[in-house]
Amino acid sequence: MPKASWHLDRRTVLRGAGLAPWVLGEIVGVEISPADAQRLGVAEGDRVRLESPRGRMEARARIREIAQALEDYRLAYQRIAPEVDYVAINISSPNTPGLRKLQAPEFLKPILEGLLELRKELGLERQPLFVKLAPDLPFEELDAIVEAIAASGISGLIATNTTLDRGIVSDRNRARVEAWGDGGLSGAGLYGKARAVRNRILDRLPKALAFQACGGIGTAAQAAEALSDGAALVQVYSALIFEGPGLVGELNRGLAARS
Ligand SMILES: Cc1cc2nc3c(=O)[nH]c(=O)nc-3n(C[C@H](O)[C@H](O)[C@H](O)COP(=O)(O)O)c2cc1C
Repeated sequence: MPKASWHLDRRTVLRGAGLAPWVLGEIVGVEISPADAQRLGVAEGDRVRLESPRGRMEARARIREIAQALEDYRLAYQRIAPEVDYVAINISSPNTPGLRKLQAPEFLKPILEGLLELRKELGLERQPLFVKLAPDLPFEELDAIVEAIAASGISGLIATNTTLDRGIVSDRNRARVEAWGDGGLSGAGLYGKARAVRNRILDRLPKALAFQACGGIGTAAQAAEALSDGAALVQVYSALIFEGPGLVGELNRGLAARS
């Protein structure tokens, strides 16, 4: 069962290293505001259990040799694609050792080509296929990756995944978050970094490719900003932990009120 330690500050989440085989992710730390702590009835430093339903996920918790990566992704794609509306290729989770290496164009290109071929074999040409990138890439590397993705013929990009950068945590809480250990950070603290990455990508991405904004989004103003930056879609993840599923309606109403 996932455990969480709540932390009084901003709404930033640390996800523990590794993909547990039967849960979507283990949350090991959450930074929250004093107001949220009061609402949730927890005090600074409290450890609480999140009684969440268990989902089953078809994903590799370990990549085998890099040379076998395409075979692993093909296996997963074959199982997942017929059940969903779109597929995202995750090569950017910091929680699977070595996974982020696959973002390099020399590894990424054959994976994209292989999956596009498989999509055709399965008669799913019209189903969108996305790649999800990390926020921790130097911009020159990011530019080369975006160029490879744009040339590949896939539908678009999602940015960003969680970050390894502890600099997004407030000074006051950095030592404590560092003590929580490895894993990717997400939530409110990630917003600025994810936005900088998104704008770098959007400056270079051909308009024909769709961009999904992700990373620290939790308010209608942030969703509106992502859309006005050029995103076609907005994803929320960590904010749902704090706000619950009602957040989606709230964001939609907030966006409608702005238009
Ligand atoms: C508990 C947890 C589990 C996650 N699992 C995955 C995953 O399996 N695959 C993936 O690509 N991203 C995963 N992510 C990353 C999110 O999809 C998202 O990219 C990231 O959290 C940034 O968005 P946010 O700030 O709205 O949370 C996970 C994030 C969290 C907090």
